[in-house]
Amino acid sequence: MTIGIEIAYLIASVLFIIGIKYLGKTKDARRGNVISAVGMVIAIAATLFTLEVLTLLEIGIAILVGSAIGLYYAQKVAMTKIPEMVALFNGFGGLASFAVALSDYYFKRDTDLALLDAINLTSIIVSVLIGAVTFTGSMVAFLKLDGKVSGQPITFKGQHLLNLLLLIVFFAASVLVFLDPSQGYYILILVVISLVLGILTVIPIGGADMPVVISLLNSYSGMAACATGFILSNNVLIVAGSLVGASGIILTQIMCKAMNRSLVNVLLGGFGQTVAAGGADGPAVVVKEIGVEETAMLFDSASSVIVVPGYGMAVAQAQHVIRELMEQCEKRNINFRFAIHPVAGRMPGHMNVLLAEANISYDKLIEMDDINEDFSNTDLVFVVGANDVVNPAARTNPQSPIFGMPILNADKARTVIVSKRSMGKGYAGVENELFGYPNCLMLFGDAKQTITKVVSEMKDMA
Ligand code: TAP
Repeated sequence: MTIGIEIAYLIASVLFIIGIKYLGKTKDARRGNVISAVGMVIAIAATLFTLEVLTLLEIGIAILVGSAIGLYYAQKVAMTKIPEMVALFNGFGGLASFAVALSDYYFKRDTDLALLDAINLTSIIVSVLIGAVTFTGSMVAFLKLDGKVSGQPITFKGQHLLNLLLLIVFFAASVLVFLDPSQGYYILILVVISLVLGILTVIPIGGADMPVVISLLNSYSGMAACATGFILSNNVLIVAGSLVGASGIILTQIMCKAMNRSLVNVLLGGFGQTVAAGGADGPAVVVKEIGVEETAMLFDSASSVIVVPGYGMAVAQAQHVIRELMEQCEKRNINFRFAIHPVAGRMPGHMNVLLAEANISYDKLIEMDDINEDFSNTDLVFVVGANDVVNPAARTNPQSPIFGMPILNADKARTVIVSKRSMGKGYAGVENELFGYPNCLMLFGDAKQTITKVVSEMKDMA
């Protein structure tokens, strides 16, 4: 039986790895998801053969209730709220890991103290620390993203010292757990300190950096699961936890690189605070407006168009009407492409997912490095709800908080039209000097509403 279960775990682990490989390409991502899900079903089924504590009926009820809640929220959640949902899921992953660690500790303490050997105690302590930090850290990230807690960094004097002090007490209490594992309240001290540390490490980080923090917490939840795998001697949990831990760290690294920030810089917080007018932004920009009719005429006369989608496209849900705009342009033999910045929107791959939802073919979506050279030969760049990712200050203004961030060279095109509702700032909270450039025209209004009007003008022209 045991060898059968280990083989099933091995198959599940291989399916997880193949699944992740497929997730690397947008067109294969669905298949990757299905393959990983099959791996998970095999892992769960194999685990059911090793039942020790709960009955099959109890587990069945728990799976049903959990799946129903998960299904309900996954169906209901708006695309723009996915980061919040991921934050909640990470948090519950951390909670599950440290709850299992705790129950294992008390179970072994009450049945046979000898079971709590050094490896077991180390795994329990690691799982409690990472799991509890992930839980409360993710809850704070969720509240910040959801606007229930201020997105501004919350800092106070002596914050880092307090964190250090808490860590020292944590290690001291861990030593006590090793010296006398029968004292249940030492472990409770570890739980309380870890919960508080989770809150204290995330509150100083600004709203702008929350997606990076969520990716990091995702990695933590994997590590916590991995530690729990060691406690339960469950190989598939160790493999799955390590995969989540490693991929979370890699994603965090990619996001930091795309924003030209170091992880330490993100964790120390402060980014994303609104910069006061006249500060690092310089004087307010003077802009030229354009109406829907003139916009339609500019599209009509262009021979090449690049659309730069951003977070505002997600807010407006303008992707479907942009497909109609593309169809109008292609009828006129206009070369129509999309430029995708790696951190456009609020989560990795945000723009790709939305455009795929509108049935825009993958080969129209060009990554930043592959399209940046082409902007200078393009007649018209249409910026839809993007702001920071086309802000030339990232290249030109060393005082700007986004200086050094790689951007799309939209400003180099012959004409740029920007669709947004107002002169509102982007996520980094800085002015965008592009809006004042001589080749830039502002099309004010909700992206979906204005582009719908542009498309209808173009249909009338045809
Ligand atoms: P942002 O710089 O956030 O700008 C979005 C713009 O959309 C806003 O200026 C807003 O202006 C406009 N907007 C909002 N609702 C709109 C609507 N209904 N119709 C039209 N426009 C609308 O977006 P971006 O250029 O995509 O940049 C992403 C930012 O998020 C970057 O700073 C990036 O570093 C940060 N970030 C992203 C990620 C990931 S993984 N994607 C992770 C961490 C941080 P109005 O209010 O004037 O309309």
